[in-house]
Amino acid sequence: MRVHGVDLFLRTGGPAGAPPVVLLHGFPFDHTLWDGEFAALEGEFRAIAYDARAHGRSGGAGVPFAFEDFVDDLLGVLDGLEVDRAIVVGLSMGGYAALRFAEREPARVRALVLSDTKSAADSDEGRLARAAGARKAREAGAAAFADGFLPKALAKRTLEGRPEIVAKVRGMILGCSAAGIAGTLIAMAGRTDTTASLGRLRVPTLVVVGAEDALTPPADARALAAAIPGARLVEIAGAGHLPNLEQPDAFRAALLPFLREL
Ligand code: MLT
Repeated sequence: MRVHGVDLFLRTGGPAGAPPVVLLHGFPFDHTLWDGEFAALEGEFRAIAYDARAHGRSGGAGVPFAFEDFVDDLLGVLDGLEVDRAIVVGLSMGGYAALRFAEREPARVRALVLSDTKSAADSDEGRLARAAGARKAREAGAAAFADGFLPKALAKRTLEGRPEIVAKVRGMILGCSAAGIAGTLIAMAGRTDTTASLGRLRVPTLVVVGAEDALTPPADARALAAAIPGARLVEIAGAGHLPNLEQPDAFRAALLPFLREL
Protein backbone atom coordinates (compact mmCIF):
# COMPACT_ATOMS: atom_id res chain seq x y z
CA MET A 1 0.00 0.00 0.00
CA ARG A 2 1.33 3.44 -0.89
CA VAL A 3 1.22 5.75 2.16
CA HIS A 4 2.66 9.27 2.20
CA GLY A 5 4.71 8.51 -0.90
CA VAL A 6 6.24 5.31 0.49
CA ASP A 7 5.35 1.75 -0.55
CA LEU A 8 4.59 -0.25 2.60
CA PHE A 9 4.58 -4.03 2.32
CA LEU A 10 1.22 -5.02 3.79
CA ARG A 11 -0.38 -8.35 4.70
CA THR A 12 -4.02 -8.71 5.69
CA GLY A 13 -6.04 -11.79 6.59
CA GLY A 14 -9.20 -12.92 8.32
CA PRO A 15 -12.87 -12.03 7.79
CA ALA A 16 -13.51 -8.47 6.58
CA GLY A 17 -16.14 -7.79 9.25
CA ALA A 18 -14.08 -9.15 12.17
CA PRO A 19 -12.44 -6.84 14.75
CA PRO A 20 -9.26 -5.40 13.19
CA VAL A 21 -5.93 -6.11 14.91
CA VAL A 22 -2.88 -4.29 13.59
CA LEU A 23 0.51 -5.77 14.45
CA LEU A 24 3.50 -3.39 14.68
CA HIS A 25 6.92 -5.02 14.69
CA GLY A 26 10.04 -3.84 16.50
CA PHE A 27 13.37 -2.59 15.19
CA PRO A 28 15.07 -3.67 12.97
CA PHE A 29 12.66 -6.43 12.04
CA ASP A 30 9.69 -6.84 9.70
CA HIS A 31 6.08 -8.04 9.72
CA THR A 32 7.18 -11.69 9.78
CA LEU A 33 8.00 -11.17 13.46
CA TRP A 34 4.25 -11.69 13.86
CA ASP A 35 3.78 -14.73 11.58
CA GLY A 36 2.71 -16.96 14.48
CA GLU A 37 0.27 -14.44 15.90
CA PHE A 38 -1.06 -13.63 12.42
CA ALA A 39 -1.90 -17.30 11.87
CA ALA A 40 -3.49 -17.57 15.33
CA LEU A 41 -5.59 -14.44 14.79
CA GLU A 42 -6.84 -14.70 11.26
CA GLY A 43 -9.65 -17.16 12.03
CA GLU A 44 -11.37 -14.71 14.36
CA PHE A 45 -9.92 -11.28 13.69
CA ARG A 46 -9.03 -9.11 10.74
CA ALA A 47 -5.25 -9.37 11.00
CA ILE A 48 -3.17 -6.51 9.58
CA ALA A 49 0.63 -6.51 9.54
CA TYR A 50 3.09 -4.47 7.53
CA ASP A 51 6.75 -3.69 7.24
CA ALA A 52 7.41 -0.26 8.74
CA ARG A 53 9.02 2.25 6.40
CA ALA A 54 12.76 1.60 5.98
CA HIS A 55 12.26 -2.02 7.14
CA GLY A 56 11.90 -5.34 5.31
CA ARG A 57 10.23 -4.99 1.93
CA SER A 58 8.90 -1.47 2.52
CA GLY A 59 10.47 1.59 0.93
CA GLY A 60 11.46 4.84 2.54
CA ALA A 61 15.03 4.11 3.68
CA GLY A 62 16.52 6.59 1.24
CA VAL A 63 14.89 9.75 2.57
CA PRO A 64 15.13 11.33 6.04
CA PHE A 65 12.16 10.65 8.29
CA ALA A 66 11.06 11.34 11.85
CA PHE A 67 9.54 8.92 14.35
CA GLU A 68 6.22 10.66 13.78
CA ASP A 69 6.26 9.31 10.22
CA PHE A 70 5.75 5.80 11.64
CA VAL A 71 2.65 7.14 13.38
CA ASP A 72 1.43 8.86 10.22
CA ASP A 73 1.99 5.59 8.36
CA LEU A 74 -0.17 3.66 10.83
CA LEU A 75 -2.95 6.18 10.38
CA GLY A 76 -2.49 5.97 6.61
CA VAL A 77 -2.71 2.16 6.63
CA LEU A 78 -5.91 2.20 8.72
CA ASP A 79 -7.42 4.89 6.50
CA GLY A 80 -6.39 2.97 3.38
CA LEU A 81 -8.08 -0.18 4.70
CA GLU A 82 -11.12 1.84 5.88
CA VAL A 83 -10.56 0.68 9.46
CA ASP A 84 -12.14 3.10 11.87
CA ARG A 85 -10.84 1.63 15.15
CA ALA A 86 -8.23 -1.07 15.60
CA ILE A 87 -6.71 -3.12 18.37
CA VAL A 88 -3.09 -2.01 18.17
CA VAL A 89 -0.39 -4.53 19.10
CA GLY A 90 3.16 -3.18 19.22
CA LEU A 91 6.45 -4.71 20.25
CA SER A 92 9.26 -2.41 21.37
CA MET A 93 9.54 0.22 18.60
CA GLY A 94 6.07 -0.89 17.53
CA GLY A 95 4.99 -0.14 21.09
CA TYR A 96 6.53 3.34 20.95
CA ALA A 97 4.46 3.96 17.81
CA ALA A 98 1.33 2.44 19.38
CA LEU A 99 1.65 4.67 22.45
CA ARG A 100 2.17 7.81 20.38
CA PHE A 101 -0.73 6.81 18.11
CA ALA A 102 -2.99 6.30 21.14
CA GLU A 103 -1.91 9.70 22.49
CA ARG A 104 -2.54 11.44 19.17
CA GLU A 105 -5.47 9.49 17.70
CA PRO A 106 -7.33 8.06 20.72
CA ALA A 107 -10.58 7.61 18.78
CA ARG A 108 -8.86 5.16 16.41
CA VAL A 109 -7.75 2.73 19.13
CA ARG A 110 -10.01 -0.03 20.43
CA ALA A 111 -7.40 -1.64 22.73
CA LEU A 112 -3.64 -1.80 23.18
CA VAL A 113 -1.17 -4.63 23.54
CA LEU A 114 2.26 -3.31 24.49
CA SER A 115 5.04 -5.86 24.42
CA ASP A 116 8.58 -5.17 25.62
CA THR A 117 8.28 -1.44 25.29
CA LYS A 118 8.22 1.78 27.29
CA SER A 119 6.83 5.30 27.17
CA ALA A 120 10.03 7.21 27.98
CA ALA A 121 12.03 8.96 25.28
CA ASP A 122 15.77 8.30 24.98
CA SER A 123 18.18 9.75 27.54
CA ASP A 124 21.15 11.72 26.22
CA GLU A 125 23.27 8.61 26.75
CA GLY A 126 20.75 6.60 24.74
CA ARG A 127 20.84 9.16 21.92
CA LEU A 128 24.61 8.96 21.75
CA ALA A 129 24.37 5.15 21.61
CA ARG A 130 21.89 5.54 18.70
CA ALA A 131 24.41 7.74 16.89
CA ALA A 132 27.13 5.12 17.40
CA GLY A 133 24.78 2.37 16.21
CA ALA A 134 23.86 4.36 13.10
CA ARG A 135 27.53 4.91 12.32
CA LYS A 136 28.23 1.19 12.76
CA ALA A 137 25.37 0.26 10.44
CA ARG A 138 26.52 2.74 7.78
CA GLU A 139 30.18 1.78 7.94
CA ALA A 140 30.03 -1.96 8.67
CA GLY A 141 26.57 -2.93 7.34
CA ALA A 142 23.48 -4.68 8.65
CA ALA A 143 25.32 -7.95 9.46
CA ALA A 144 27.71 -6.20 11.85
CA PHE A 145 24.75 -4.45 13.45
CA ALA A 146 23.01 -7.83 13.85
CA ASP A 147 26.08 -9.32 15.57
CA GLY A 148 25.98 -6.58 18.19
CA PHE A 149 22.20 -6.54 18.58
CA LEU A 150 21.31 -10.25 18.83
CA PRO A 151 22.97 -10.94 22.20
CA LYS A 152 21.01 -8.05 23.70
CA ALA A 153 17.70 -9.01 22.12
CA LEU A 154 17.44 -12.69 22.99
CA ALA A 155 17.54 -14.53 26.31
CA LYS A 156 20.73 -16.53 26.89
CA ARG A 157 18.88 -19.82 26.57
CA THR A 158 17.40 -18.73 23.23
CA LEU A 159 20.81 -17.66 21.93
CA GLU A 160 22.46 -20.88 22.99
CA GLY A 161 19.72 -23.43 22.44
CA ARG A 162 17.33 -22.18 19.73
CA PRO A 163 19.36 -21.69 16.53
CA GLU A 164 16.20 -21.47 14.41
CA ILE A 165 15.03 -18.40 16.37
CA VAL A 166 18.48 -16.81 16.18
CA ALA A 167 18.46 -17.41 12.40
CA LYS A 168 14.97 -15.94 12.02
CA VAL A 169 15.90 -12.77 13.91
CA ARG A 170 19.18 -12.41 12.02
CA GLY A 171 17.30 -12.89 8.75
CA MET A 172 14.87 -10.09 9.59
CA ILE A 173 17.76 -7.76 10.47
CA LEU A 174 19.60 -8.63 7.24
CA GLY A 175 16.37 -7.89 5.37
CA CYS A 176 16.75 -4.26 6.44
CA SER A 177 19.25 -2.02 4.68
CA ALA A 178 22.08 -0.29 6.51
CA ALA A 179 20.46 3.03 5.52
CA GLY A 180 17.13 1.89 6.95
CA ILE A 181 18.74 0.81 10.22
CA ALA A 182 20.71 4.04 10.55
CA GLY A 183 17.70 6.20 9.64
CA THR A 184 15.44 4.42 12.12
CA LEU A 185 17.98 4.80 14.93
CA ILE A 186 18.10 8.55 14.32
CA ALA A 187 14.29 8.69 14.15
CA MET A 188 13.94 6.76 17.44
CA ALA A 189 16.45 9.09 19.11
CA GLY A 190 14.08 11.96 18.32
CA ARG A 191 10.83 10.35 19.44
CA THR A 192 8.72 12.09 22.05
CA ASP A 193 7.97 10.90 25.57
CA THR A 194 4.42 9.58 25.93
CA THR A 195 4.50 9.05 29.70
CA ALA A 196 2.30 12.06 30.48
CA SER A 197 -0.55 10.68 28.37
CA LEU A 198 -0.63 7.18 29.91
CA GLY A 199 -3.06 8.16 32.66
CA ARG A 200 -5.49 9.45 30.04
CA LEU A 201 -5.70 6.15 28.14
CA ARG A 202 -9.20 4.74 28.35
CA VAL A 203 -8.86 1.51 26.39
CA PRO A 204 -8.27 -2.04 27.62
CA THR A 205 -4.51 -2.56 27.70
CA LEU A 206 -2.34 -5.64 28.02
CA VAL A 207 1.33 -5.13 28.84
CA VAL A 208 3.62 -8.10 28.14
CA VAL A 209 7.33 -8.47 28.80
CA GLY A 210 9.96 -11.17 28.62
CA ALA A 211 11.28 -11.73 32.14
CA GLU A 212 14.86 -11.61 30.78
CA ASP A 213 14.40 -8.64 28.48
CA ALA A 214 17.65 -6.65 28.72
CA LEU A 215 16.58 -3.88 26.30
CA THR A 216 13.23 -2.91 27.82
CA PRO A 217 13.38 -4.71 31.17
CA PRO A 218 10.39 -5.85 33.25
CA ALA A 219 10.74 -2.70 35.41
CA ASP A 220 9.74 -0.62 32.35
CA ALA A 221 6.72 -2.84 31.73
CA ARG A 222 5.66 -2.64 35.37
CA ALA A 223 5.87 1.15 35.26
CA LEU A 224 3.85 1.21 32.04
CA ALA A 225 1.15 -1.07 33.44
CA ALA A 226 1.00 0.92 36.69
CA ALA A 227 0.48 4.18 34.81
CA ILE A 228 -2.25 2.98 32.42
CA PRO A 229 -5.66 2.73 34.12
CA GLY A 230 -6.79 -0.89 34.37
CA ALA A 231 -3.83 -2.31 32.44
CA ARG A 232 -3.04 -6.00 32.83
CA LEU A 233 0.61 -7.10 33.07
CA VAL A 234 2.00 -10.48 32.03
CA GLU A 235 5.68 -11.42 32.45
CA ILE A 236 6.86 -14.29 30.29
CA ALA A 237 9.46 -16.57 31.85
CA GLY A 238 12.34 -17.79 29.72
CA ALA A 239 12.08 -14.96 27.20
CA GLY A 240 14.15 -11.90 26.39
CA HIS A 241 13.08 -8.96 24.22
CA LEU A 242 11.09 -11.08 21.74
CA PRO A 243 8.74 -13.21 23.88
CA ASN A 244 6.38 -13.99 20.99
CA LEU A 245 9.26 -15.82 19.25
CA GLU A 246 11.04 -17.13 22.32
CA GLN A 247 7.98 -18.42 24.21
CA PRO A 248 5.17 -18.36 21.61
CA ASP A 249 2.71 -20.51 23.56
CA ALA A 250 2.96 -18.33 26.67
CA PHE A 251 2.72 -15.16 24.59
CA ARG A 252 -0.41 -16.32 22.79
CA ALA A 253 -1.89 -17.59 26.06
CA ALA A 254 -1.75 -13.97 27.22
CA LEU A 255 -2.75 -12.34 23.93
CA LEU A 256 -5.67 -14.40 22.67
CA PRO A 257 -7.89 -14.40 25.81
CA PHE A 258 -7.32 -10.65 26.15
CA LEU A 259 -8.46 -10.07 22.55
CA ARG A 260 -11.42 -12.43 22.85
CA GLU A 261 -12.70 -10.64 25.95
CA LEU A 262 -12.92 -7.31 24.13
C1 MLT B 1 13.13 -2.69 19.19
O1 MLT B 1 13.15 -3.91 19.41
O2 MLT B 1 12.21 -2.17 18.56
C2 MLT B 1 14.27 -1.86 19.68
O3 MLT B 1 15.06 -2.55 20.59
C3 MLT B 1 13.78 -0.56 20.25
C4 MLT B 1 14.89 0.36 20.64
O4 MLT B 1 16.02 0.22 20.17
O5 MLT B 1 14.61 1.28 21.43
